[in-house]
Amino acid sequence: MHVAVIGAGYVGLVTGAGLAYLGHSVRLGERDPAKLKKLLAGEVPFFEAGLDALLAEGISNDLMSFHADNKEAVVGARVVFIALPTPSDEDGSADTSYIEGALEDLGPVLEQDTVVVLKSTVPVGSVARFQAHLDTFGTGATVISNPEFLREGSAVGDFLHPDRIVIGTRSQEAAEVMLELYQALQAPVVVTDPPSAEMIKYASNAYLATRITFANAIANLCESVGADVKDVLLGMGYDRRVGFHFLNPGPGYGGSCFPKDTRALVAIADDAGYDFSLLRGVIEVNELQRHRVVDKVRAAIPLDGATIGLWGLAFKAGTDDIRESPAVFVAEELIVAGATVQAFDPEAAHVDGVIRVDDPIQAVKDAHVLVIATEWPEFQSVDLRAVREAMASPHIIDARNMLDPEAVRRLGMQYEGIGR
Ligand SMILES: NC(=O)c1ccc[n+]([C@@H]2O[C@H](COP(=O)([O-])OP(=O)(O)OC[C@H]3O[C@@H](n4cnc5c(N)ncnc54)[C@H](O)[C@@H]3O)[C@@H](O)[C@H]2O)c1
Repeated sequence: MHVAVIGAGYVGLVTGAGLAYLGHSVRLGERDPAKLKKLLAGEVPFFEAGLDALLAEGISNDLMSFHADNKEAVVGARVVFIALPTPSDEDGSADTSYIEGALEDLGPVLEQDTVVVLKSTVPVGSVARFQAHLDTFGTGATVISNPEFLREGSAVGDFLHPDRIVIGTRSQEAAEVMLELYQALQAPVVVTDPPSAEMIKYASNAYLATRITFANAIANLCESVGADVKDVLLGMGYDRRVGFHFLNPGPGYGGSCFPKDTRALVAIADDAGYDFSLLRGVIEVNELQRHRVVDKVRAAIPLDGATIGLWGLAFKAGTDDIRESPAVFVAEELIVAGATVQAFDPEAAHVDGVIRVDDPIQAVKDAHVLVIATEWPEFQSVDLRAVREAMASPHIIDARNMLDPEAVRRLGMQYEGIGR
């Protein structure tokens, strides 16, 4: 099938390369000249494991092309995916102006039977609103919802082996087109009306954010009552009604989705006259969690003039994405308080004011405290003796509970985790 994808970011490029892998012909529209240049050279413009191979295959099979002009990208497309950003507006609601701008541009050129697929996470009611917008151009295009659930760090696997596919449309024909597009994927398919599909995405992210936050709240309480959250969550997780996923205490959730999507769902609820106090509580506890990490460092050492080693800048392991990263928040707070921050992250982008170094030991050189802020697995195999030798005072604040506290203490270092 001929497909266009507007926006070649984490979602758009994975979707495009994934669809090409399934044999579809994919034209991508991307307006960032630097990203486009890399794509035209066959390179992935960000870090996502396995995506380079998928992209190379799509290009060599002549199934992928890249375009600066979205109108050029949609030529001949039966399906047009919109994978554009929907960042938080000042009031917390989702800003859909990127999508509005793109549809304004595409409205006059879309063909009659085009299916326009909202892959971006959009407020409930967006399908109807964008359909009305496209109708003003007299196009017969049908707007549908097909929310994306991929996780950065495992996005390729998530595309090829999704837990489910959600299709939100009242058009039988559009649903059939989507079923044909995805027929090679083995996954349960939920075909529903557009508002339900839009809500599934927000409800899923809000639930996952709530689980993380619940684990953090329990961890904080464990610190006060002398319990070890690792054992508490282990004991809870064996209950099949609870399970182990997304119950990892840490510095709070971050990234480009959970923070903005939880805020957006609160805004959706406010508009609908429902006070979503549970989710407002989650957002508040999550904010406080990042501050707790900074407070732990402050309690360990006067920050003015201190040197802090930081392991990790990405919002989680497996990605270079630093959007709303708790690690970056901690770094920035420490710098504002007068500390020097030396950070190592295997993939993350530059952060203003942070001294980037090339390995974990360089990050702790002459440091008074080491903060582990991102759960990159390689941090677990760093030689702790070398860490101790390099540090000015050996004190580790392990905001991801990655290290064995006893092993650290046996080496004569102070250790603090989250909830233990
Ligand atoms: N990143 C995730 O893990 C994830 C997962 C599920 C859903 N989502 C949702 O998917 C959407 C996209 O997220 P993302 O992380 O891929 O964003 P992103 O910022 O990585 O990608 C968006 C891309 O669109 C490009 N762009 C912006 N305006 C454009 C225009 N007018 N024409 C062409 N290209 C344009 C940008 O340059 C960028 O490359 C968001 O709504 C997000 O909430 C993201």
